[in-house]
Amino acid sequence: MPDRTIEALLLEERAFAPPPAFRQSAIARDERVYDQATKDLQGFWARAAEDLHWFAKWRTVLEWTPPNAQWFVGGKTNITYNCVDRHVKAGRRTKAAIIWEGEPGDERVLTYGDLLREVSKFANVLKRLGVKRGDRVTIYLPMIPELPIAMLACARIGAPHTVVFGGFSAEALRDRINDAQAKVLITADGGWRRGNIVPLKRNADDAVAGTPTIEHVVVVRRVGDAAPIHIQEGRDHWWHRLMADASAVCEAEQLDSEDLLYILYTSGTTGKPKGIVHTTGGYMVGTYLTTKWIFDLKDDDVFWCTADIGWVTGHSYIVYGPLANGTTTVMYEGTPDYPDKDRFWAIVEKYRVNIIYTAPTAIRTFMKWGPDYPARRDLSSLRLLGTVGEPINPEAWIWYHKHIGGGRCPVVDTWWQTETGMILITPLPGITTLKPGSATRPFPGVAAEILNEQGKPVGPSEGGYLVLTKPWPAMLRGIYRDPDRYVKQYWSRFPGVYFTGDGAKQDKDGYFWLLGRVDDVINVAGHRIGTYEVESALVDNPAVAEAAVIGVTHEIKGQAIAAFVTLKEGFAAGSEMVETLKQHVVKKIGALARPEQILFTGELPKTRSGKIMRRLLRDIAEGRVLGDTTTLADQTVVQALKQRYEEEAG
Ligand code: WTA
Repeated sequence: MPDRTIEALLLEERAFAPPPAFRQSAIARDERVYDQATKDLQGFWARAAEDLHWFAKWRTVLEWTPPNAQWFVGGKTNITYNCVDRHVKAGRRTKAAIIWEGEPGDERVLTYGDLLREVSKFANVLKRLGVKRGDRVTIYLPMIPELPIAMLACARIGAPHTVVFGGFSAEALRDRINDAQAKVLITADGGWRRGNIVPLKRNADDAVAGTPTIEHVVVVRRVGDAAPIHIQEGRDHWWHRLMADASAVCEAEQLDSEDLLYILYTSGTTGKPKGIVHTTGGYMVGTYLTTKWIFDLKDDDVFWCTADIGWVTGHSYIVYGPLANGTTTVMYEGTPDYPDKDRFWAIVEKYRVNIIYTAPTAIRTFMKWGPDYPARRDLSSLRLLGTVGEPINPEAWIWYHKHIGGGRCPVVDTWWQTETGMILITPLPGITTLKPGSATRPFPGVAAEILNEQGKPVGPSEGGYLVLTKPWPAMLRGIYRDPDRYVKQYWSRFPGVYFTGDGAKQDKDGYFWLLGRVDDVINVAGHRIGTYEVESALVDNPAVAEAAVIGVTHEIKGQAIAAFVTLKEGFAAGSEMVETLKQHVVKKIGALARPEQILFTGELPKTRSGKIMRRLLRDIAEGRVLGDTTTLADQTVVQALKQRYEEEAG
């Protein structure tokens, strides 16, 4: 993102008011919602909750003893009931709930009626396997309909799910299963990616060899004879066999609003991923209302969020948010370039998609491929565009607006996190005047501020730490089985307020401009990766003595991983070692964490107390003039390293 210097951003003067026709028919079009929500936060969220079904109404909207929030306390509900049964009962049995586009040749449409049947059957399957309310179920599946079906079935019986992205390695899967102490694992024989097979079951077998809590593995048949697998009698069961004789009737459990809905693992600033905990009622209301207002969902809209359900974006904006609204949600199994680089636009054309929600890294890729690919297809059904996952550079925003949105569709740049559960900083497309590159302003009722080191609010155009000062319904309730880390990670940097880990500025109009992470988390193509995780993976290799990992600017991915590595005595540096170490990281974590560059060095720059000075490594990698080096133990190390880096970079 070469043009994302704050100076350039704050000079960004292009502004896009909502098109009049869009504004007139928008669901949220009255500016006063902001004031109303600020004045009466609880009333605001209670009104949203009243749109949904509760077996028993809440006693109290919010109980807030920082950092612990409880929403809709005393309420009894079920998110699956709200996402499925509610719509069937309201006469939408035959409406398309999920449109699934598989790798070429495959497609499947599930109506709300179909979804109710499949989810109920699988809920009964889970019960038959001994899953009870409160038991954790790990889901490791490709982007196939069984994934949302399994999630909704878990939620129906009150068994928290924990979805692990299919791109994670066996070891990453094992660690997540063990942290969650899951009883059942749901996987597939394989997944399709660009015509190749991803060996999910093989990874699952390797993982389960080290997971004492897993009693059963359910296997969806996706690739079949293309990749035969081993079925372990008694432990492994084919999905279709279990479903064949399962009853299609299963009442939704009446769950407490604060019952655990799911755990989703995300990278933090230590080696161990954090299990982010989301609960039922608040998450349901938060994703329901944000989807409705930000994406301006109308009854006959077709909504497509291009994320993988293995990430929070897919949880909230492919599954729960859209289905809570009774929307038709699209899910796509494959990649944007297979069989050709117009695949996304072919899908928009085929299903007459009205709203598309994707990531800046994808948009920058499309820019590189050029406007002819979208121009081949009829994109006239689109009326709203969204982005998420990383800061969007104004250039990419403008390209998206012009070449995908035909200049007529507002672009909602939505800032949020796994922890926040729902979008928090975003335009409302019928109200907000857009500025390319700015996520604009907090959603009604959301209180965001920017603080300096001392915890004092910064002035306009001054950079600082983005914090949230009031609770919101979909906020995380903790880190699974680690309450101390929850407090330390999020609520201690500035006592009593939520620390996002992001830097931001506000311009003179109060618009927020996100500046990226301020901690040791890097954002590679919209995926969060902790530098410590990659470092741990590297030093796990017998050849490596020490490693330091940083994020470097990358034109398409936003950031890429660069690793500085010191080898042990007797191991030779060179391109072979580079390849070995890259492969090692892939094996430990998954392809998403593969370092882009590895540089060998005799020593790493350290302070006198032995702390690696990543800031200097970043300066070196970005080709900047070296910052303050006075605290370095050995001044020559960094100069030599800089020289090496420049030589290697050519
Ligand atoms: C970044 C993804 C700028 C940010 C939903 C955040 C963004 C992290 C935006 C969370 C945006 C997400 N503008 N930065 N619109 N959206 N981010 O947990 O650094 O995978 O902290 O959640 O992505 O990533 P996560």
